[in-house]
Amino acid sequence: MNEIIDLVSKELSAMLPRDWDVPASLKESMNYSLMAGGKRLRPLLTIAACEAGGGDREAALPVACAVEMVHTYSLIHDDLPAMDNDDFRRGKPTNHKVYGEAGAILAGDALLTHAFYSIVQTSRRYGIPAERVLSIVEDLAEYSGPRGMVGGQVADMEGEQGITSLEQLEYIHLHKTSDLIMFSLVAGGRVAGVTDAQLNALQTYGHHIGLAFQIQDDVLDITGDEAKLGKKTQSDVKQQKVTYPYFIGLEASIAEVKRLTAEAKAVIAEGGFSNPQRLLEIADFLMVRDH
Ligand code: IPE
Ligand code: IPE
Ligand code: MG
Ligand code: MG
Ligand code: MG
Repeated sequence: MNEIIDLVSKELSAMLPRDWDVPASLKESMNYSLMAGGKRLRPLLTIAACEAGGGDREAALPVACAVEMVHTYSLIHDDLPAMDNDDFRRGKPTNHKVYGEAGAILAGDALLTHAFYSIVQTSRRYGIPAERVLSIVEDLAEYSGPRGMVGGQVADMEGEQGITSLEQLEYIHLHKTSDLIMFSLVAGGRVAGVTDAQLNALQTYGHHIGLAFQIQDDVLDITGDEAKLGKKTQSDVKQQKVTYPYFIGLEASIAEVKRLTAEAKAVIAEGGFSNPQRLLEIADFLMVRDH
């Protein structure tokens, strides 16, 4: 996993073509958040899904980088004073603390836009059929846009403690977090050219580990160690967020993470992949993560 994370980080550090004339301050603020040392879970999933289906690791790199750019943009905006108002991220002051709110908003905008440029390189550089890349572009717009992550973030902002039902909470988690995780997996599968049934298996796996991942994030907001997490704990409590532990309690939340992980693994194990091992390992790894 570390080998893949290094590969992705190297590729991300060269994300903008050398001959592009980009304001130095913009490059700096994009890089500040991108290279601050996230877990790179989503790129890892893209590459693991591609390799599970017998695809080539290199060809999945532009999509892996794109998903990390979209994820990083979402974190920069999520931390803004108008949203979660957080001061630490990935072990460093949040982007707006260093570059100001306008700088942070624009760095996020730039990362989101540039992600689509990166995806197109899947075809330009690695010769993956344009029809498959078209589906990847369509998926990213859908999973990260109004029907996906942004919709989930809006629901999260509008949710208030006491009035949200578990159904509404599941909507928030599935969209703000699972959707991008599902995208990462399905896109990796598309690069490899897996069957429709396998794309469905990757989507279901992503749905389950994505929901489990956000429940675990909620749990760690209460029980986690700030130094390991690289962000402040008790943020949800301070912002009066509706979370799984708030709704069903800590023990039941942890049990739910286990249940979802087992279901996710079963779908992959039965999916007829030539190389499913890493996807199964990642599911187990996420269940016991402390950051
Ligand atoms: C944090 O994501 C935001 C959520 C969707 C829970 P990660 O926990 O993957 O953050 P990084 O990328 O490692 O910083
Ligand atoms: C973030 O959820 C989801 C997105 C950024 C899309 P959180 O607000 O729970 O993430 P953290 O806890 O700040 O990392
Ligand atoms: Mg948030
Ligand atoms: Mg937040
Ligand atoms: Mg959180």
